[in-house]
Amino acid sequence: MQSRQLGNSPIRVSPIIFGAWAIGGWMWGGNEEQESLDAIRASIASGVNTIDTAAIYGMGHSEELVGKAIKGMRDKVLLATKCGMRWDSDEGSEPWKQKDNNGRDVTIYKNARPDSIAYECEQSLKRLGTDVIDLYQIHWPDVSTPVEDSMRAMLKLQEQGKIRAIGVSNYDVEWLRKAKAVAPVASLQPPYSLIQRKIESEILPFCRQNNIGVIVYSPLERGLLTGKVGADRQFAPGDHRASHKYFTVENRKRVLAALEKIRPIADRHKASFAQVAINWTVHEPGITAALVGARNAEQAEHNAKALSFTLTPEELSQIRAAFDEPSRAMNAS
Ligand SMILES: NC(=O)c1ccc[n+]([C@@H]2O[C@H](COP(=O)([O-])OP(=O)(O)OC[C@H]3O[C@@H](n4cnc5c(N)ncnc54)[C@H](OP(=O)(O)O)[C@@H]3O)[C@@H](O)[C@H]2O)c1
Repeated sequence: MQSRQLGNSPIRVSPIIFGAWAIGGWMWGGNEEQESLDAIRASIASGVNTIDTAAIYGMGHSEELVGKAIKGMRDKVLLATKCGMRWDSDEGSEPWKQKDNNGRDVTIYKNARPDSIAYECEQSLKRLGTDVIDLYQIHWPDVSTPVEDSMRAMLKLQEQGKIRAIGVSNYDVEWLRKAKAVAPVASLQPPYSLIQRKIESEILPFCRQNNIGVIVYSPLERGLLTGKVGADRQFAPGDHRASHKYFTVENRKRVLAALEKIRPIADRHKASFAQVAINWTVHEPGITAALVGARNAEQAEHNAKALSFTLTPEELSQIRAAFDEPSRAMNAS
């Protein structure tokens, strides 16, 4: 897989990045540890050079799994993680009630205060078993902290050699503008898929103009775009998809109907719907990479092959057009 430069940073990421949220089990109804480790290792063996995780994914559990999986091959992989969501402190903004991996109630705060960023970085370094994080990202805007203060804390970590590049996630243009005035922002991590295309209007053009890398999340729309979420599919207790607005039976049917429209394209390339969806996502101008989640080695290997064929410009537009109506309907409310 040919790597791509991440914005203004010296980092070169594979256009498919392994997303380690689901393998941590949290909000995904659990996952077997061995399957998770195999998934990460299979993705690296298949040419993926970057793993994306976050402290909040399983309250440290995903980071620990990533650290365990890459032991002995740290030099082969870039580590991206995130800070700014605290379950172990009650400072910050927008408290959010959730369950932890053990089903206990927790309240999560968005917290991008400088002292919290410095503390969290140390914890993540330990859990990942490394002395440097390649890409350190603020997970969500924290409205109780001036973004300039957060960025100065990130810059300090970079100067100390604890992180190589600074990233942010879920920021809009206004936040990005303020952030980049203080520190070099290598990348933004926003949601983007055939169904969720909000970034196309302002955020993506802004990132293109300012050489900010864009690594998009949920390109399979949490599994919907694989075609394996029919009306009858049940989710395990604790899997957030059971109550996600995109997963109503009506929306599942909309997605399946749109996938049928692109079946001739998938067949022509001997590709699955998942591979076509990933391939489409990373061919959009301005997108550096897609963060793709996988539960096991089979899914990870399969997804890593998504760029082994080339969609023509005409096919790319036909795929987009097939999802115009579902995308509009599913984001209407
Ligand atoms: N910054 C943020 O706020 C944020 C938010 C969300 C995600 N992310 C990042 O983006 C990454 C990816 O997003 P995501 O995990 O939400 O969604 P995704 O990549 O769109 O979907 C992943 C899920 O789809 C299913 N799947 C994947 N490959 C498959 C295949 N080949 N065949 C059948 N099913 C397959 C798996 O679930 P099942 O097998 O259970 O169906 C898997 O867990 C995350 O891991 C995380 O790193 C970041």
